[in-house]
Amino acid sequence: MCGCENEINTKMKTSKRLEGIGEYYFSTKLREIEELNKAGKNIISLGIGSPDLPPHPDVIKTLQEESAKPNVHGYQSYKGSPVLRKAISEWYKNWYKVQLNPDIEILPLIGSKEGIMHICMTYLDKGDEVLVPNPGYPTYQSAVKLARGKCVDYKLSKKNNYEPDFDKIESKKLKKVKLMFVNYPQMPTGQLPSTTLFEKLVAFGKKHKILIIHDNPYSFILNDNPTSLLSVEGAKDCVIELNSLSKSHNMAGWRIGMLCGAKERIEEVLRFKSNMDSGMFLPMQLAAAKALTLGKEWQEEVNKVYRARREKVFALLDLLGCAYSKEQAGLFVWAAIPSSYKDGYVLSDDVLYNANVFITPGGIFGTAGNKYVRASLCSTEEKIDEAIVRIKNLKSKI
Ligand SMILES: Cc1ncc(COP(=O)(O)O)c(C=O)c1O
Repeated sequence: MCGCENEINTKMKTSKRLEGIGEYYFSTKLREIEELNKAGKNIISLGIGSPDLPPHPDVIKTLQEESAKPNVHGYQSYKGSPVLRKAISEWYKNWYKVQLNPDIEILPLIGSKEGIMHICMTYLDKGDEVLVPNPGYPTYQSAVKLARGKCVDYKLSKKNNYEPDFDKIESKKLKKVKLMFVNYPQMPTGQLPSTTLFEKLVAFGKKHKILIIHDNPYSFILNDNPTSLLSVEGAKDCVIELNSLSKSHNMAGWRIGMLCGAKERIEEVLRFKSNMDSGMFLPMQLAAAKALTLGKEWQEEVNKVYRARREKVFALLDLLGCAYSKEQAGLFVWAAIPSSYKDGYVLSDDVLYNANVFITPGGIFGTAGNKYVRASLCSTEEKIDEAIVRIKNLKSKI
């Protein structure tokens, strides 16, 4: 024994920044499901929102053709390819009626998830506060904590159409609040924004000098009216919008997203991001630009599949005695559990271990989700049918 074990243990200790940060829920849960599958369980997963359908063939063709060229394999610009920035700007103009200068108001990202972290690292100092939705995407919470900021939950409840209760928020001290995360269509509740919500958000941001971060990856899924928070007049004064090709173009694994906002915001975030990574592989950026030119037919084709699946997911949730709105947008159905279950975790475990079907417990999105579950539309109709049969069998045994 050299006596240096203690010193080694201290030095190997993870940073304080990681205290209270666990591994991402799905990272551990998917590992458990893999183990169950290895043991022969053949779990049907209605958990994660990773589109199972491929991108448009023209997108794949562009990637193949471009990557066969000899001169596309070097480092790329930190600000992204001008071709991709131009395509993003056209896409925002055509679909959202938002004008963005492709040279200075757009920053391509390796998925919008990284943008959440970059924003927190760019704007937060220890003790700065951030308004985060409960229920909401768990990454907002962890990114704020990793940047040493403090989360201030704001509750989204059904009776308020899952919109922020501005009076309640304003009754708290907002002096230390620097950022507010919002996301409509909202995940996990599937709530679409009301016609006035976006204007209220911009007014709130301006009044309190809070930067509103709108995370907008679901606007094309089961929603006839894709909207951007940047379409509100004067929004660039207090809004950054994150967007993504993961869900809208079936490209989740490609990791392509974007950050849009005023020139100053892009420059500020780039100061951090350009120290973290280098530009994305050029053929991927060019293929993403191709994807953004796809028209209404593409979105309709994708949504037709999700609509049919959603009917089946409704039937599955009926079997479980859950209650839900049929007006939800996005890749999931958010459903209240019956009172026979203590919470969504118990229901999720019951169905996982006894029917070999995985549905996400709503509690992972915050305490306000405890009495809910979230079912994904990213499985085939055949698999959802099979899940229904398994749950019927489970019910008949009770
Ligand atoms: C609300 C929300 N924001 C962001 C993301 C991350 O998207 P991306 O694949 O662009 O990183 C997800 C993914 O599930 C999400 O649900």
